[in-house]
This record gives sequence, C-alpha cells and structure tokens, in this order.
Amino acid sequence: MHMQNEFMLRKFVSPEFVFGENCRFLIGEYAKKLGGRIVLIVTDEGLVKAGWVEEVKAYLANKGIKFVIFSGVTPNPRVEEIGKGAVVYKNESCNMLVAVGGGSVIDCAKGIGVTIANAKPVMDFVGVDKIRYPIPPLICLPSTPGTGADLSQVAVLSNTQEHSKVGIVSKAVVPDLSLIDPVIVTTIPQYHLYCSLMDILTHAIEAFVSKGSSAITDLHALDAIKRITNIFDLGLISSQDKSVVNDISIAGIEAGLAFSNASLGLVHSLSHSFEGLTDISHGESISIFLEASINFNYDTVPHKYKAIGKCMGLSLDRMDPNEIKEAIIEKIGLFKKTLGFNKKICDYGINRDCIPFLVQNAMKDNCIITNPHRPNRRDIEAIYEKLF
Ligand SMILES: [Fe+2]
Repeated sequence: MHMQNEFMLRKFVSPEFVFGENCRFLIGEYAKKLGGRIVLIVTDEGLVKAGWVEEVKAYLANKGIKFVIFSGVTPNPRVEEIGKGAVVYKNESCNMLVAVGGGSVIDCAKGIGVTIANAKPVMDFVGVDKIRYPIPPLICLPSTPGTGADLSQVAVLSNTQEHSKVGIVSKAVVPDLSLIDPVIVTTIPQYHLYCSLMDILTHAIEAFVSKGSSAITDLHALDAIKRITNIFDLGLISSQDKSVVNDISIAGIEAGLAFSNASLGLVHSLSHSFEGLTDISHGESISIFLEASINFNYDTVPHKYKAIGKCMGLSLDRMDPNEIKEAIIEKIGLFKKTLGFNKKICDYGINRDCIPFLVQNAMKDNCIITNPHRPNRRDIEAIYEKLF
C-alpha cells in the first residue's frame, strides 16, 4: 500500500506573489502599502550593472519612499555579509527589506531581517522554527527562476568559518510579497539559467518523493517536471527567449511552492555539504548528485518515480521497475549533456580525504529528514565515493 500520506494533515504556505511581464513596476505601490518609509535594497553588483536597481529606486522614489543600497552579497550568502547588511539597516533606520537578485540575495535579505527583528546573530536561528519575532516586511524581485527563495519558508546560509551550508526553516522568513517578473531573468547569464533548470527539476522531483509531500504539493511538482522536460525536449534554452524564460519561471514557481511545503531530500543534503566546501554554484552541484540519489531512493517509492517518468514523457508501460529507473536516469543524463554538466567531485579540486567531512555535514542537513529512504552514514559515504 502506498497510502501513508492519505490521512495526514498537511499545511500549504505561500506568500502573496504577482507573476508576469513587467510586474516589477508595482514595487513602489506595494512598498507603500506595506508601510515602507526607508527601504534597504539588498542586491549584488551584477543586478546593479544590469540597471534593475536603478529602476527599483525610481519606483520607490516615485511613491516618496527613501532607500539605502546594500550590494555586498556574493554568490553564496555568507553569515558575515548578513551581519554587515544588518548594521546598515540599523544605522540607516530602515523599516523594510527589498531583495533584488537571485537566491543568495534573497536569503541574505531574510538573514538580515532575522538578525534585526531578534537582535541576535543569524546563526542562532539555524534549524526549524527557532525564530521568535517576525522579520520586517520583505519584498522580493527574483532574478533567477526557481531558487524558491522568493516563495519559501527557508533561507540557506554559508558558514564560511566551518565550510558548511546551513538552513533556517520558519514561516517567519516567508516573504510578504514576491514580484516575479520574467523580464528581469532575460538579463542573467546563460549559465545561471542552466543551473536554474537543474535546480527546478530537482526541487520538483525531491518534493514529489518527499515524506512531507501532499496532494497539493504533488500537483505543483508534477507540472513543473512536465514543463522542464518540455523545455529540454524543444531544445531552446536561451535566457534571451521570452517564452522560454516565462515557462521556466512558471516551473520555478511550481517547484518552489512544492518544496517549500513538502521539503526536499538527499540530493540537497549531499549538495549543501559539497557547496559548503567548494563554493560551487548550487544548480551545478545539484546535478552531480541527482542520479545517484534516485538510484538510492528508487526501491522505496517506485510508484512515485513511475509518475515522474511519465511526466518526463517516457513510455514506461512495458518496462519493469528497474528499466523505469534506468530510463529516468538516462533522460536526466541527456538533460545534463545538453547543458554541458558532466563534472565529478574530483574536478572541483578536493580529494577523498574530505569525504568524512562531507558525510558529517550531509547527515546533519535538514533536507535529509524528508528523504523517502533514510540513509545511514555508510550509504552517504558510498554515494560520495562513487561520484569522485
Ligand atoms: Fe535547490
């Protein structure tokens, strides 16, 4: 029987969000509605250069809202950067956060909010439901589709001193509003879009097989898998192409809603640990661990993988379970080939001595809790060893 979730209670949390071309124009109005007087705009240099921050400033100024820019966010949001941002927020008497950027920028803004509201370093709130006071109003304008940071109750932070990535899970970090404007995505580098595709696909797969999945998260997860497959099958993956970017953005929203509520699994645990050590970009890292994790989980929930395979357009009717598994893994291999993602762990300049460290951090990662098949230390070690 595969009915273990049928009668369990499930909640579904989502921020208010607006999706569509040019919805960024609404930022001033919404910031005013939420009581913004002095906004801390959290962003990075790339977004400033692309001109989006200039635009946001104009929309805020138009509604009489003051602002301060904090653009010191690097590709993985570090605890020190959050501390610096919080100092700026406090010194400038800000009362609202606007994040303009990718997952790192949004997570940094969430971290700043947590620090300010609770008057303690952000690391004190790592874990599930540890936040006491709600963060100031947070509006997100995501530039990278599918990180889920703009929709989720999660913030992932880099603890540079310990070379680890840690997560804060709390409804307190759900943004008040996300303006998801595909036009912003058209200026990101092609490589970022490639990373997004793999991240979105993985969010959808992990949310669907998660122990925390529900009928509502499944609906979003499966449709995201269909959309991502369709994009790969059409072979038109350009960040300049509006309709492709639009579709990736929708898939990203669906997968984000699914994983924010169903959580993730082994791929993200293995990946977070690896990212802490190497500073590799998340989407590329995820790609290393996806097939091995499917192989590990498959026998626990074969019916779920069959549904995933169908959404990936595979004809599975005459296949036995093992053939279905192989077909899914093969298809993912094709996706990765299209993107040129074919590296192994050793390609990132680390050696096998790091395996115990990687295993230790992966075992501690929150995402592992909802993985359909609970791995032990040896299982994790075997996966890392195999992928070296
Ligand atoms: Fe992810």
